[in-house]
Amino acid sequence: MNDNERLIGESPEFSALLEQTSTIAPLHKPVLVVGERGTGKEGIASRLHFLSNRWEGQFIKLNCAAISDSLLESELFGHEAGAFTGASKVHHGRFERAHGGTLFLDELANTSMLVQEKILRVIEYGEFERVGGSKTIKCDVRLVAATNEDLPTLARQGNFRADLLDRLAFDVLTIPPLRHRTDDILLLAEHFAVTMTKELERAVFSGFSPEAEQTLKQHPWPGNVRELKNAVERAVYRMIEDEPIDEIILDPFESPYRPSRLDAKHDPVTAQRLIFPMQLKQDTREREIAIIEAALEAAKYNQRDAADKRGLTYHQLRGYLKKYNLVGERSSEE
Ligand SMILES: Nc1ncnc2c1ncn2[C@@H]1O[C@H](COP(=O)(O)OP(=O)(O)O)[C@@H](O)[C@H]1O
Ligand SMILES: [Mg+2]
Repeated sequence: MNDNERLIGESPEFSALLEQTSTIAPLHKPVLVVGERGTGKEGIASRLHFLSNRWEGQFIKLNCAAISDSLLESELFGHEAGAFTGASKVHHGRFERAHGGTLFLDELANTSMLVQEKILRVIEYGEFERVGGSKTIKCDVRLVAATNEDLPTLARQGNFRADLLDRLAFDVLTIPPLRHRTDDILLLAEHFAVTMTKELERAVFSGFSPEAEQTLKQHPWPGNVRELKNAVERAVYRMIEDEPIDEIILDPFESPYRPSRLDAKHDPVTAQRLIFPMQLKQDTREREIAIIEAALEAAKYNQRDAADKRGLTYHQLRGYLKKYNLVGERSSEE
């Protein structure tokens, strides 16, 4: 782990998590890392690897939400030459490449039932077949999976395999959101500020003004450490040399000229006075539909991207689409 990957945090909540991580790291058991977006799931996965006796082996990562189901299958398990059009050579999947090491699967909830079944088999028996092949391949891999979804709920709804969940949930590391460990905010902010100052080859970082510290401590950080890192780095590149940072811009989109379909001043829905609860309900409905439609359009009807843009989980977005019957032919899951 280099210095950039060092996990910062001294709050009791974060220290307890680090301790739990160290305790489970040496075991050859799958681990599930749960946390809101931006809480640092990858850092915890990497710690699990480097504190295990596999630390000299490979630490292989894959984000399951980044690619389509069929591609995911061949990324994970590889494929034989000629398995499908364009598969000219044999391809070694992530499980094969992680042999003797650790495989980190980020956003595991975004996998199909078929892929989940194959993953379960690797965990249980340490074997799998490449796509388009019949030869059984053995591998010794420690699986670490991450998600920001509530997998027990998804399993109850039939959207995640319960047997895989049982196997993964030997132990679950849940990362507390930043708003539940406010003691860590300034520590992290200083760390990101110093690193960014070095990166920009500026001479010194002169600290935060009391107002800036106040802003940092009071913001709820829905995007957690990733959001904090962005805000701090933005402040550092704008800072005046030798002066403490005075202003933290939490929303870089904020501007009097911000174009928006939902511009509050011009939006007839919000401009109207809301009188009756019935009207409020109707207005909420219209606003929610407008927001979801705008997000879908901006994401070229890719539902996962659209959900991300609005800070929703994929399943929350699907909930809205169903609620308002917006499941049109144009939206796609990929
Ligand atoms: N405790 C921490 N100390 C230092 N950096 C952190 C910490 N937690 C998260 N980060 C940083 O925040 C960013 C988001 O972390 P990441 O692991 O990608 O989050 P996610 O939980 O969404 O996968 C990364 O740049 C990571 O290095
Ligand atoms: Mg991640």
